[in-house]
Amino acid sequence: MAPVERTTTDRTRSDELAAYWLPFTANRAFKMAPRLLAGAKDMYYRTAEGGRVLDATSGLWCCNAGHNRDPIVAAIQQQAAELDYAPPFQFAHPKAFALARRLAALAPGDLDHVFFTNSGSEAVDTALKIALAYHHVRGEGARTRLIGRERAYHGVGFGGVSVGGIANNRRFFGPLLPGVDHLPATYDRERQAFTTGEPEWGAHLADELDRLVALHGADTVAAVIVEPMAGSTGVLPPPKGYLQRLRAICDKHGILLIFDEVITAFGRLGHAFAAERYGVVPDMMTFAKGVTSGTVPMGGVTVRQPIHDAFMQGPRHAIELFHGYTYSAHPLACAAGLATLDLYRDEALFARAQAREPVFAEAAMGLKGLPNVLDIRVVGLAAGIDLAPVPDEPGERGYAAMEKAFHQEDLLVRVTGDTIAVSPPLIASEGEIADIFERLARVIRAVA
Ligand SMILES: Cc1ncc(COP(=O)(O)O)c(C=O)c1O
Repeated sequence: MAPVERTTTDRTRSDELAAYWLPFTANRAFKMAPRLLAGAKDMYYRTAEGGRVLDATSGLWCCNAGHNRDPIVAAIQQQAAELDYAPPFQFAHPKAFALARRLAALAPGDLDHVFFTNSGSEAVDTALKIALAYHHVRGEGARTRLIGRERAYHGVGFGGVSVGGIANNRRFFGPLLPGVDHLPATYDRERQAFTTGEPEWGAHLADELDRLVALHGADTVAAVIVEPMAGSTGVLPPPKGYLQRLRAICDKHGILLIFDEVITAFGRLGHAFAAERYGVVPDMMTFAKGVTSGTVPMGGVTVRQPIHDAFMQGPRHAIELFHGYTYSAHPLACAAGLATLDLYRDEALFARAQAREPVFAEAAMGLKGLPNVLDIRVVGLAAGIDLAPVPDEPGERGYAAMEKAFHQEDLLVRVTGDTIAVSPPLIASEGEIADIFERLARVIRAVA
């Protein structure tokens, strides 16, 4: 391919930015007006130019304890000086066990065993593989089908994209995994618009699982995976009773139920896990992001006792699960995780999020009636605000809102298409919550 000609004047700035290919980003637009973050503390980022930006999205749904919290920073520094790395295959280090114990204690029911990964995507692919292997080791190897849901985001591995339900994440990447089917999304604007919390309408959509099972045969279905609340596609809380119904149908057919809690775990919905809020114990839960408050990459899968135990057979020296990552249970991530869980406990941040939920919901719903606001959904400390698309230019208004928020209002929000997502750190004060939505109101007016 011939190199593209560039003038000398183009070069200085753009050459500095050229090498880095940003993920899930409009690279050309970004490089024309970069949004560079150089520091952070508590609720605020500091830009490369010295500006102070209010973080309304916990980084990317992960810095739940706020930024650069002293105890977490200290734990990471100390760990780096003590043990940089330990191989996780056939060896381990004490903090891996300590963190697994803490996570098992936090998880509901008998979700007692933890398999560590480095991201949410890896956690999802790990959970799907454990589901398939679980049926295999029990002599039900024909159970290979996986069922996801439309509008789901389960990361970017081939497994996660296959069970995921976002067209743009799927259509460029070939046939993906075979034997995957999807439940319908639970969102219907006509029936649910401007609902605070879980909508009344939609529990019956769980019955679609019965239909898929009838179509494929229960003995071919391994697992169902859902986000208890779909975060990435715009904060879609589950209809009342929906998750309970999914649980019952899975039980009836011997299908494993996986909750992808990468966004919902660690306080986002006012509990350690969404499973607790909804009173439903899944067979596996994925987590990532908030486990280290975003400081060091880490993810994992929490697995129910009988699933784990089904693997513990065969010769003593035999590996029970042929799966793992070089950086599974990395010492820095484990140290960060332990310090983060301490902070969540010591500052009662999950209960604090629960207590703030009504104030947050009221402030979010205050945007109703502003130009182009089609719907607002709010649950826990998460809000999704749908803006009407510019005719024939989907995503344009959302992108403009994100840019204006950053450059004109010193506010960091996340947009997906024309939907704005707000999910501040759990330490947000009532004043900071009000501030976020006041700035956002100005942004929404500015992009009208
Ligand atoms: C529900 C869910 N699963 C998986 C992922 C993927 O996580 P990661 O980006 O750490 O791979 C995300 C990320 O937002 C998520 O929201």
